[in-house]
Amino acid sequence: VSRIIPVETFDLVIFGGTGDLARRKILPGLFKRFCDGQMPVGSRIIAAARSELDLSGFQDFVVEAVEDALGTPDADQISGFVDTLDYVTIDALGEEGWADLAAKLPAFDKVRAFYFSVGPSLFEALAERLHKHGLVDTETRIVVEKPFGRDQESAKALNATLRRHFDESQIYRIDHYLGKETVQNLMAVRFGNMLFEPLWNSQYIDHIQISVAEDVGVGGRGAYYDKSGAMRDMVQNHLMQLLCLTAMEPPSFFEPDAVRDEKLKVIRALTPVEPHHIVRGQYTDSSDEVTYREDVGDPRSRTESYIALKCHVSNWRWAGTPFYLRTGKRLKARDSEINVVFKQTPHSIFGPEAGEHHNELRIQLQPDEGINLRVTIKEPGPGGMRLMDVPLDMSFAEALGEDADTPDAYERLIMDVIRGNQTLFMRDDEVEAAWAWTDPIIQGWEARHDVPKPYESFSNGPTDADLLIERDGRNWREIG
Ligand code: BG6
Repeated sequence: VSRIIPVETFDLVIFGGTGDLARRKILPGLFKRFCDGQMPVGSRIIAAARSELDLSGFQDFVVEAVEDALGTPDADQISGFVDTLDYVTIDALGEEGWADLAAKLPAFDKVRAFYFSVGPSLFEALAERLHKHGLVDTETRIVVEKPFGRDQESAKALNATLRRHFDESQIYRIDHYLGKETVQNLMAVRFGNMLFEPLWNSQYIDHIQISVAEDVGVGGRGAYYDKSGAMRDMVQNHLMQLLCLTAMEPPSFFEPDAVRDEKLKVIRALTPVEPHHIVRGQYTDSSDEVTYREDVGDPRSRTESYIALKCHVSNWRWAGTPFYLRTGKRLKARDSEINVVFKQTPHSIFGPEAGEHHNELRIQLQPDEGINLRVTIKEPGPGGMRLMDVPLDMSFAEALGEDADTPDAYERLIMDVIRGNQTLFMRDDEVEAAWAWTDPIIQGWEARHDVPKPYESFSNGPTDADLLIERDGRNWREIG
C-alpha cells in the first residue's frame, strides 16, 4: 500500500459504462484501485449508457464484471465499491438523461473526467452536449479509446472535432500498451542504467524484433475487426508505440511533452515500407476451430489477421539496424516481447568452433513480465573453451515477490488521468504521424487487391514471414 500514490477525489463518468471494455477492463481496474485505497472518500464512478438500467441493476452488472475478471471479491470491499457507483440512462444523440447527469455533477469541486468508451462517431455529440449542459470547465479531462480514426484524414478530423471543444492538455488518448508495466520498465532499463544506453545504437545492435502474438481469434469482434485488420488494430498503435519507446532518444525529463516529442521524431524518421518487406496473413484451417473468414462471416474477406514487416528508422542512431515487427491472431501462443539482438564481437579469440554468439536483451510483456539478458559464458567442464549463451534473468514475479501483482494497464492509465499526467497518452500529432506511415501501405494493398497469405491456426504465421527475416540471415524468436 505504501507504493500507492494518492490522487485527489474524483468523479469519473464513463459513457458506454455497460459496454465490453467497461465490463472487462475499466470497472475491474477501478475496483482494484479501490481495494488499494486509491479512491479517496467522496469519489464516484458514474456510468452513462443507453441501457434502461436502474442503479441496482448497474451495481449487479459491476459485481459480475469484477467476478469474471478477478474471481470472487472480498464482501466488504465489493460492497464499499458499489457504494461509489451511480448510473444514468443517457442518449448521446438526443436529450434524454443529460439533465439527470448534470444534477449529479452540481459543482466543480473534484477532479472531473469523462471516459468516452464509445465509438468515435459519438465523440462530437458527446462533446457538444457536455458543453451545452455546463458539465466541463478548463480542468475537465476526457479519455478516448482507439480506434482513433482509420487513416490520417479521419484522425485529423477527429482531432479537429475534439479540439473545438477541449484543449489538447485535456485530451487523453489511450493506448493501453503504454500502461503495461514492462513497457514502462523498458524506459527505466534504458534511461536508468549506465549499462545499456552507450550500446543502444546501430554500431552495437544487429537488429530489433517486436512481436505481439495472440492465440485468440477475432471471436465476437468480427464486424469491427474485418474493417480494420492487424495493421490498423495493432501496428499503427501498439507496435508503433513499442517501437517508439525502444528507438527514441533520451528525453531531457520524464515529462509528457518531452517524451512525446521524442516518440514523434521516431515515427517521422520511419522510412516507407517496401512492399516486399511486408507479409500479410489470415488464419485458416485447423481441425476444430473456425477460420478467419468464418469468424467474420465473409467467405471472401481479404482482411489480414497477421502482419510481419521490416522497417528502418532513418536517423544517425539507427542507420543500418532493421526493425522487424510482427503481430497476429490465432498464433501458437500468447507471447509478446521485444528482442534487442546485439552484434557479434568483432573478432572471436576462441576460433570458429566457438560458433556465433549474440548478446540479446529480451523484454517480455506477456504472458509473464520480465527482462532477461543473454550473455555468453564458457560451457562448464573440462572440454576446452566451448561457449554457450545463458540468461541473466529478471522475472518480475521472482524479483519482487508478492508485490509483483502488477496493475493492469487500464488501472495505471486511469489513475494518470486523475493525476493529470499525459506522459503515457498519445498526442494528436503522434497519432496523425503514425497514420501517415501506415496509410500508403494500406492503400497499396487496396490498389493491388492484395490477398493475405493463409496460415494455419495455432502456428507461427505464414511461411513467407519466415522468409522475410531469413533472407537477411536472421531468425524470428520462438513464439511460446
Ligand atoms: C486491442 C486490440 O487494442 O489490443 C485487440 O483491438 C487485441 O485486437 C488487444 O486483442 C491486445 O491487448 P492485450 O493487452 O491483450 O495484449
